[in-house]
Amino acid sequence: MKIAFIGYGSMAAALSSRWSQDHDVFIGGRNVERAAALAETVRASGSGTIADAVSFGDVIVFATPAGAVEDAIHAGGGADAFNGKLVIDINNPVSVPGGPHEQSGIPYLPLPFKEGSLSERIAACLPGAQVVKAFNMCQASVWEMDPPVFDGRALVTLTCGGDAKAKQTVHALIETLGGEAVDLGALTYARLLEPAACIVIKLLFEGRDVHTVLNLIQPERKPI
Ligand SMILES: NC(=O)c1ccc[n+]([C@@H]2O[C@H](COP(=O)([O-])OP(=O)(O)OC[C@H]3O[C@@H](n4cnc5c(N)ncnc54)[C@H](OP(=O)(O)O)[C@@H]3O)[C@@H](O)[C@H]2O)c1
Repeated sequence: MKIAFIGYGSMAAALSSRWSQDHDVFIGGRNVERAAALAETVRASGSGTIADAVSFGDVIVFATPAGAVEDAIHAGGGADAFNGKLVIDINNPVSVPGGPHEQSGIPYLPLPFKEGSLSERIAACLPGAQVVKAFNMCQASVWEMDPPVFDGRALVTLTCGGDAKAKQTVHALIETLGGEAVDLGALTYARLLEPAACIVIKLLFEGRDVHTVLNLIQPERKPI
């Protein structure tokens, strides 16, 4: 599979380091030197601009801050450049403590979108792409685990999206990591996944260990 990342931060590093073992991975970003540096570290097939990444990938992972997604679409060549692509939205649009969207006493809140969630906003911006939400619920170092197993039970990754074939592809990528996918349903379930991640973020900022914050696991132990 040809998987391109937009962004070379923590999540791009974690997921690309695992997928580059089995897939053709490309790292794209605003700074091509930094993209090349991550590509070398994770043994990706290539690196370049955001437009190069969109052109390379059958699967495009948005791994920028949530507020940068629309910039990234523009830099990627606009909506038409994403036609026929599978877009994985891993992003958590979350307010920051003291920021304009913070409601009194609750520092980490999902940011509002007229479509209902960031994933649905992306889908509205990219009508020719299939958007799947996944990977937003665990901290980057969990995605580096090889395999992601807790107490002998594999990590479960929640997904949602409108296209069954696109979700099958994402589920295969989750299985490549050594985890199990659980399909919540239509992309509207991103309206639940995005606020759920706010709980994870709150607990992390309060100092809990990354391995103990809502990492869903399989009910039974299975041979790894
Ligand atoms: N970190 C986690 O544990 C975690 C877990 C689950 C989900 N997430 C979500 O995953 C996304 C990425 O998180 P991260 O921790 O990997 O972020 P990060 O380490 O801060 O990396 C963000 C990347 O986006 C690029 N970027 C920033 N603004 C941009 C713009 N306007 N256009 C294009 N590229 C831009 C940055 O590079 P330049 O600024 O050099 O362009 C960098 O490569 C976020 O939405 C986050 O909520 C994170």
